[in-house]
Amino acid sequence: MPRPVADGKIGSMTAFDVRPVTEDERRSTFDLLGRSLHSNRVSDELWSRFGVSWPAAHKFGAFDGDTPIGIASSFDTDITVPGGGVLPAAAVDGVGVRADRTRRGVLTELMRVQLADVAARGLPLAVLHASEPTIYGRFGYGSAALGKTIRVARPAARLHDRVPLAGEVRMLTPDEAVKEIPGLYHRIARRPGMIGRPPLWWPVMHDRLAGPDGDHVVAVHSGPDGDDGFVVYETVSRRSLEAPDEGAVLQVRDLHADSPVARAGLWRFLLSVDLVSAVHARHRPVDEPLSAMLTDHRHAATLAVEDDLWLRPVDVAAALAARTYRAADPVVLAVTDRLLPANTGHYEVGPDGARRTGAAADLTLDVDTLGMLYLGEWSATALVQAGRVQAGDPAAVARADELFTTIAAPWCGTHF
Ligand SMILES: CC(C)(COP(=O)(O)OP(=O)(O)OC[C@H]1O[C@@H](n2cnc3c(N)ncnc32)[C@H](O)[C@@H]1OP(=O)(O)O)[C@@H](O)C(=O)NCCC(=O)NCCS
Repeated sequence: MPRPVADGKIGSMTAFDVRPVTEDERRSTFDLLGRSLHSNRVSDELWSRFGVSWPAAHKFGAFDGDTPIGIASSFDTDITVPGGGVLPAAAVDGVGVRADRTRRGVLTELMRVQLADVAARGLPLAVLHASEPTIYGRFGYGSAALGKTIRVARPAARLHDRVPLAGEVRMLTPDEAVKEIPGLYHRIARRPGMIGRPPLWWPVMHDRLAGPDGDHVVAVHSGPDGDDGFVVYETVSRRSLEAPDEGAVLQVRDLHADSPVARAGLWRFLLSVDLVSAVHARHRPVDEPLSAMLTDHRHAATLAVEDDLWLRPVDVAAALAARTYRAADPVVLAVTDRLLPANTGHYEVGPDGARRTGAAADLTLDVDTLGMLYLGEWSATALVQAGRVQAGDPAAVARADELFTTIAAPWCGTHF
């Protein structure tokens, strides 16, 4: 454990200490986070039920005296990487600084302490979703998996005749949704970029919405081998005095399927619900072939493609060694890491794996750009063109393209 205290005297304005959050400070740091994200205040009643999802473990606070002014929280999980390996990871799930103390280095100090802690505990990766894409690159995070927002027009959208039709969809009761979905997710979530959802994830992110007090709908697809996919969605009314007959919008919150057949079954179900004018889904996999599944692909409009998962290699050697690479001659990467300088060095990456090397570099990049390359979302060519990777020899860039490419686009698919 690093010494988690820093005197953050930035200019002459603010002094603060960064240290682990204690049990007694769980509520005040949670309220601070909520305020910084403009969330509604959590009542005592809600806190008594869901505060369990905000444990003191792995939380660092910035304090002015006893008063929290900043928070950086994470939970331990794992993540699937290309080739199917599963690596321990810190999922950064709550970051905020009080509005009257921003831009004085509070987050910078919190990130420094949090990353040192993650490294000291031996987790090779850290991941997060960013409220704003400009925040985390400076701390070594790269935009590693994208997600698309789609709107499917109802009732116009129809599935093509050749879309697989097999299996059954059944709606769950709220009690069943709480009981059955965690195990099902655990069984089927295997795409690179997907994270494990630990027990503390479920009460707030699923049970609150889909359980007895929630209003989300849950449906499960079953194939020949049992349950193999599920969808959680919310129904939002669009009726008004001006549009009394307007259908509702189904907003998909969570949709996971173990196979194309299960995915088709779930979308077939969503597109069959009556009195609906559109189905919306945010942060879907960029390669989900929904428009190709429709008779008229314009009925599935992609409204946005955004950063979904940000990834920070914390132990570059371990992270590079954990994924697989396609067949091509090796390349040598020269990686620079300002915050965790032990990572700075040369790494040979080839179909036989990855290791540190003293050989000359083919490609030079910062650790945040390695985060972009790691899951296969961005090609080396694109990153060279964007000026984020320097390379002398175009043949080395082509080899890096081949080595890092993945067939399925990486995708996280978990809110945290
Ligand atoms: C994002 C946030 C945590 C930043 O905290 P902070 O203490 O102001 O950050 P720092 O002072 O350490 O800033 C470090 C650097 O990042 C930049 N930066 C920080 N937040 C930024 C933002 N939202 N947009 C653009 N730049 C930002 C700062 O300008 C500074 O740049 P510099 O090093 O070139 O001077 C804070 O603004 C906040 O709480 N925002 C609302 C909640 C939120 O978005 N949380 C993140 C959830 S993922």
